[in-house]
Amino acid sequence: MWDQRYDSDEYAYGVEPNSFLKENFNTIPQGKVLSLAEGEGRNAVFLARQGYSVTAIDSSLVGIEKGRKLANRHGVNVEFIHADLIEYNMGVNQWDGIISIFFPLSSLHRKTLHKKVVYGLRKNGVLLLEAYTPEQLKFGTGGGTNAALMQSKASLLDEFSGLKFSRLVELERSVLEGSCHTGMASVVQAIATK
Ligand SMILES: C[S@@+](CC[C@H](N)C(=O)[O-])C[C@H]1O[C@@H](n2cnc3c(N)ncnc32)[C@H](O)[C@@H]1O
Repeated sequence: MWDQRYDSDEYAYGVEPNSFLKENFNTIPQGKVLSLAEGEGRNAVFLARQGYSVTAIDSSLVGIEKGRKLANRHGVNVEFIHADLIEYNMGVNQWDGIISIFFPLSSLHRKTLHKKVVYGLRKNGVLLLEAYTPEQLKFGTGGGTNAALMQSKASLLDEFSGLKFSRLVELERSVLEGSCHTGMASVVQAIATK
């Protein structure tokens, strides 16, 4: 599905970073950042341009290739890895930051992945996440039609109970990020430290 979506010259979510990340990236200590479900590279390239050493994972090879092109266009180095995050071993105490932007995943897989995120962060490492909530179904401006793949304050509090939240809010905001995220939306935003 994702390979098909990305099989075009257009970048489905644009080439500019996610706006929540852009406004808050400096909560992540300089160092190594892991981007989960990076897609076509917009967020990883942005972070690399801010001086971070970025590793970006996605299961779409087409997305990864477009990410590599975007990184080349900006003259930055990003390590792109083609992998399924359900099985990927991100190590322990490895990352100064881990970002997850609009990553749709079932709660079963999320529980496994988010446990690995808590282990993977270094002490003082920061998780930065934005996701659609089930309320997004009433807007239909992105994120698909399956509420089971969406997140909430309650699910994040449960799955990241090992981290300390400095921000955890559900809100409605305008998300204008490429042709696939196109208007008023219901999102949950989190910044949390290990
Ligand atoms: C809505 S897109 C978001 C892309 C990017 N984070 C952004 O905001 O531009 C969701 C991404 O999740 C990736 N994805 C879905 N399941 C995955 C998995 N199990 N492992 C790795 N990536 C996955 C898809 O390939 C797709 O690129």
